[in-house]
Amino acid sequence: MGFGGAAPAETQPRRHSTVVTYARAPPDPDRPRGERQVEVLSGRTAVVTGAASGIGEGLAERFAAEGMNVVLADVEEEALAITAKELEAAGARVLAVPTDVSDRGSVDDLAGAATHAFGNVHVLCNNAGVAGGGIPIWATTANDWSWVLGVNLMGVVHGIQAFVPGMVAHGEEGHVVNTSSVLGLSGGNGSIYSVTKHGVARLTEGLWHDLRAAGSAVSASVLCPGLIATRIVSSDRNRPARLRDPDTDPAGSADRARMRETVQARFLADGMAPSDVASMVVDAIRSNRFWILTHPASIKPLVEQRLRSVLDDGPPAGGFGMGG
Ligand SMILES: NC(=O)c1ccc[n+]([C@@H]2O[C@H](COP(=O)([O-])OP(=O)(O)OC[C@H]3O[C@@H](n4cnc5c(N)ncnc54)[C@H](O)[C@@H]3O)[C@@H](O)[C@H]2O)c1
Repeated sequence: MGFGGAAPAETQPRRHSTVVTYARAPPDPDRPRGERQVEVLSGRTAVVTGAASGIGEGLAERFAAEGMNVVLADVEEEALAITAKELEAAGARVLAVPTDVSDRGSVDDLAGAATHAFGNVHVLCNNAGVAGGGIPIWATTANDWSWVLGVNLMGVVHGIQAFVPGMVAHGEEGHVVNTSSVLGLSGGNGSIYSVTKHGVARLTEGLWHDLRAAGSAVSASVLCPGLIATRIVSSDRNRPARLRDPDTDPAGSADRARMRETVQARFLADGMAPSDVASMVVDAIRSNRFWILTHPASIKPLVEQRLRSVLDDGPPAGGFGMGG
């Protein structure tokens, strides 16, 4: 499904009151390819997974406001169509592609559709994710692992494998942003989610090195959000029937449902606006910054505590408490 009718970048409405602009250095054509950044976003193409809601929707809105062609991918088809229509109504050039990032074939189809619609892809945000865990590791099920690993970790791997070869081959500046979490940097209790987010952080460090070694004009960043006002707590809405466990499904317990509502309310009340996260991501792309910490003042001490526990041969460090 495609939506045409791009407006020039300067006429794109700013949909958020909180969009921040940053001073930046002029492009330097003499810099090595791996150290160049994507300076000009207007007219280029961004692909965002998990674009129907939350951070992904914020990224899509911001990229559209920058005058980019935006490819929206999400498994939640109804929400995806609504987001696409809103962006289209605001004058953006968008393509909405129902996609399950845990399925490599589905992500390959996304890459094909994106290239067919807009040509070269310049910015790839592997952002789709689901919350999972919150119970001791030994109480989790094989289905829990298949679902959360499949979306949060393999979804990022699939995005890299489906898009990066083309991004490297076309030779223009590009950028990959993978969404991890504060829980991908900190210690804390057992959770499948944290395992996947540590994986995404380390995977992205490796991607950065691999791109440099290949002399590519594509760079990479890892987004590590703290508390953001999204519906991540209600991720179960997207859990496939084949990976549900009737006996242990959190949605099946009244206590768990109440707890989820309380936590969800806290995310929406206290979380940072997705539009602010999008501003940080755009700044990091333009300045080619690797680590994107949305709440550095509270995240960095957690990183320090974790590394200190390793260096001091101490017990594992504590964590963020709750949330993504
Ligand atoms: N909200 C937070 O506080 C927070 C904190 C740290 C990290 N994150 C991460 O941010 C990312 C975005 O989450 P969010 O907070 O915006 O939550 P969200 O639930 O609002 O958005 C996640 C999106 O991913 C989509 N999705 C789920 N499974 C999918 C699949 N198999 N294929 C394609 N799309 C799928 C959902 O439909 C949804 O639109 C996630 O990776 C999440 O782990 C969120």
